[in-house]
Amino acid sequence: MNIGIIGAGHIGGTLTRRFSALGHKVFVANSRGPESLAALAAETGATPVSVTEAAQSGDVVIVTIPEKNIPKLPPKLFEGSSDRVVVVDTGNYYPQQRDGRIDGIEEGATESRWVSQQLGRPVVKAFNNMYAQHLLKLGRPAGTPGRIALPVAGDDEKAKSIVLKLVDELGFDGVDAGGLDDSWQQQPGTPVYGADLDAEGVRRALSSARKERKAEWRATEQT
Ligand SMILES: NC(=O)c1ccc[n+]([C@@H]2O[C@H](COP(=O)([O-])OP(=O)(O)OC[C@H]3O[C@@H](n4cnc5c(N)ncnc54)[C@H](OP(=O)(O)O)[C@@H]3O)[C@@H](O)[C@H]2O)c1
Repeated sequence: MNIGIIGAGHIGGTLTRRFSALGHKVFVANSRGPESLAALAAETGATPVSVTEAAQSGDVVIVTIPEKNIPKLPPKLFEGSSDRVVVVDTGNYYPQQRDGRIDGIEEGATESRWVSQQLGRPVVKAFNNMYAQHLLKLGRPAGTPGRIALPVAGDDEKAKSIVLKLVDELGFDGVDAGGLDDSWQQQPGTPVYGADLDAEGVRRALSSARKERKAEWRATEQT
């Protein structure tokens, strides 16, 4: 599969390494341009490209940059690309530590619904609830007892099934976590966030999540 990755930090770098090792053709971009990705390219065989090229190069395009920078991506990033391209959002909203206030999210949109609105494309939410180092190291073959599971949310069943398959290839059980408006169940502060649970544990955690955003995950006067 051709996979575009926008963002080459903790998660983007990890996914570049893992998907390249699995034999996918990865096109990776960051904010500083392809030259700055020479070392990652040499290590993985991925192709360093511009953000626009990454968006246009993949059957799957993974957007993995800080939430506050989503509106700074080039406008009409996906214009002209096929509706079949699956866009994945790994993002989390950290209003107090990193992102500042984002009105749409504070007013009640799920984080990924807001990202989808900014990008003008449907997105699938995945890879947001696991530490990058765990994503890199803790994948196990299907059927391994206690295999860690990851929730995957999105409105398009076909797109979601493609992402669930990629999650399995990476060594994790994928759990269908419903539509994008259900994806608050896997946001920061919920039981599944950072918990590395197996599939049954993920399902239990999703169903025990509370919709109200906790104070530590809301913007304050200062932010
Ligand atoms: N870290 C984790 O363990 C983890 C786990 C799950 C989810 N997440 C979420 O995933 C997202 C990415 O997190 P991260 O930890 O991977 O971030 P990170 O390590 O800070 O890396 C951010 C990457 O995004 C790129 N970037 C920033 N603004 C950009 C722009 N406008 N255009 C293109 N590229 C841009 C940066 O490029 P430059 O370096 O060139 O600026 C960098 O490669 C965040 O929403 C985070 O909350 C993180």
